[in-house]
Amino acid sequence: MLLGGLSAEREVSLSSGRECARALREAGYEVVEVDAGRDLAHRLAEIRPDVCFNALHGRWGEDGCVQGMLEWLGIPYTHSGVLASALAIDKARAKQAFAAAGIPVPHSLLAHRDEIEARHIMPPPYVVKPNDEGSSVGIHIVHEGSAPPVLGPDMPQTLMVEQYVPGRELTVSVLGDRATCVTEIHTEGWYDYHAKYAPGGSRHTCPARIPDEIAEAARDYALRAHMALGCRGLSRSDFRWDDSRGVDGLYILEINTQPGMTPTSLSPEQAAVEGMSFADLCAWLVEDASC
Ligand code: DAL
Ligand code: MG
Repeated sequence: MLLGGLSAEREVSLSSGRECARALREAGYEVVEVDAGRDLAHRLAEIRPDVCFNALHGRWGEDGCVQGMLEWLGIPYTHSGVLASALAIDKARAKQAFAAAGIPVPHSLLAHRDEIEARHIMPPPYVVKPNDEGSSVGIHIVHEGSAPPVLGPDMPQTLMVEQYVPGRELTVSVLGDRATCVTEIHTEGWYDYHAKYAPGGSRHTCPARIPDEIAEAARDYALRAHMALGCRGLSRSDFRWDDSRGVDGLYILEINTQPGMTPTSLSPEQAAVEGMSFADLCAWLVEDASC
């Protein structure tokens, strides 16, 4: 079980990895938990696991790096491979692939942080976010009538600026070649890091109470996004839906190739609604592993 790691989502990954390790042990698997530090290749060469369950999130764990190392070592691993991971973590490149596959994406561009702080790069409301982080780390929403954002010192030099889509937050997972039901996420404010992981930070309705046409479109887009990037195993696609515009208001924001597996995470809930327990989901991922 690869968990922890070096990214800004380290704590999330520790939670995901521990949950998955516990479930797999209960299902009869022998599990060794490995906190993914700089000595990871060395440790894996020593342990020689039959399969690596990748519960890492963010940089080095979700971006093709650890996947490339596992390919090199010849160790089968769960979730997506090198190319799909590298494309998915790069929101701008992933969006190009989605648009080419006919999936609507909100207008966005990449800009230097100095430009973003100096003037409105596009008419507000818009969102400023790192191009390659997860869990809403570093997201700023610029509302109508407000000044350009002041970005924290930890923000990268180049950032994504994306038109804000008003309305509702939807998400769909894909398991192999099947899209799950749609979840709607309800929060008091933005679905930020706190809302994602604090117990009670958000409410999820699964299946979402939305028109069939919207649910079918979201499931179709999630499956197409998964295939457009060549993802494997489990992925989760996140959407915004401007419900005043019907199906034309549905946009994909991103695909996550290492969706959270924490007690508040979405994919395990969706799998459960489909009749797949958390342990079944983890075991399915192990059996689906390859390199
Ligand atoms: N980046 C987090 C783990 C997620 O997408 O669930
Ligand atoms: Mg994400």
